[in-house]
Amino acid sequence: MATETDLTTPQAADTNASQDPSTQLRNYKGIQYSYDEPRFKGLSKNAIKRLLKDQLWDQTRPQRLQVKREKHKKRISEKRKQYEQGNAPPLPKRVKTADMVFGNRKAIIDCSFSDLMTKKEIDSMQAQLVRCYSANRSAKEAIHLNISGFDDALKTVFDKRTPSYTNWRNVDWDPEPYEKSFDKEKLVYLSADSDVVAKELEEDKVYIIGGIVDKNRYKGLCQDKAVAAGIATAQLPIGEYIKLASRKVLTVNQVYEIMLKWVEHRDWKKAFMEVIPLRKLKDSEIFDGDESQDQAKDGQEDEDDDEALQQEDEAARQEEEIQAAQEQQEESQIAQE
Ligand SMILES: C[S@@+](CC[C@H](N)C(=O)[O-])C[C@H]1O[C@@H](n2cnc3c(N)ncnc32)[C@H](O)[C@@H]1O
Repeated sequence: MATETDLTTPQAADTNASQDPSTQLRNYKGIQYSYDEPRFKGLSKNAIKRLLKDQLWDQTRPQRLQVKREKHKKRISEKRKQYEQGNAPPLPKRVKTADMVFGNRKAIIDCSFSDLMTKKEIDSMQAQLVRCYSANRSAKEAIHLNISGFDDALKTVFDKRTPSYTNWRNVDWDPEPYEKSFDKEKLVYLSADSDVVAKELEEDKVYIIGGIVDKNRYKGLCQDKAVAAGIATAQLPIGEYIKLASRKVLTVNQVYEIMLKWVEHRDWKKAFMEVIPLRKLKDSEIFDGDESQDQAKDGQEDEDDDEALQQEDEAARQEEEIQAAQEQQEESQIAQE
């Protein structure tokens, strides 16, 4: 039976505190908090909820990864079984970092836009860079990567999520802007907003990809930056091959993967078809390559975009997890040899 002495229990103390709404102890999916915590100063209730949601997302990451790891293992063992029974092709051979093949080509990812991104977008940017490296590892000819403007915001995410990045092969992590290390005459900034359409990827040019996730908030940002610096720009010739139903601004990793595929096939259409996700190709028209059409949609966010980005994030997270597993295996193999 409840008595007055119950007020000394923690639960009763919370109830007591609830008389002042700012100090009242609250609960968000298991996280205890109150509005008067210094980290919430000046934030609206919605902003506090978003912060708690992010905190929960970060806290539950190890469990999510574990579940994915187990699902991945199960999928692989299913596929192996199918292969052993003669019902499926063999599993693709694991790519070893040591087997990477490099030509002379170089690309820059301009990561100087952290101030324009939310925390979630910086996380997504990091995941896209992991995908770039992962694609580079299995490419026929890898492209040397310079991550320029590599600042603390991005570095913190790498340190936390993918600490093995310091061992990535042929990647320069440069906190300085690219102008310090590259001859301006050799640079071409890739931008969907450029009037120039790339015909090929010239071997002696260094192509820059804008390292930003902005859901098209900053239209023309990279084009304007390049023009102001006197750097040439070019868009990928997507319009000559595909009339996309949505805007033709691609993500950083998609552009990088298209570059890798072009270097492999010397065929834009093949490169686009192998990299651009099916959901983006849905409802689009595919040409033979002799029509030249300008089908830029006016930067309007189509409804799919948010979802597409989330799916991309998810795929990138999985990639990161697979990558970590592969690297671990390679490291233990090397240790055994
Ligand atoms: C998500 S986009 C960034 C969009 C940003 N608003 C801007 O100003 O470029 C990331 C980068 O991928 C490259 N990119 C995306 N779509 C492209 C296209 N169709 N042609 C050439 N480069 C493209 C550009 O380098 C771009 O900066």
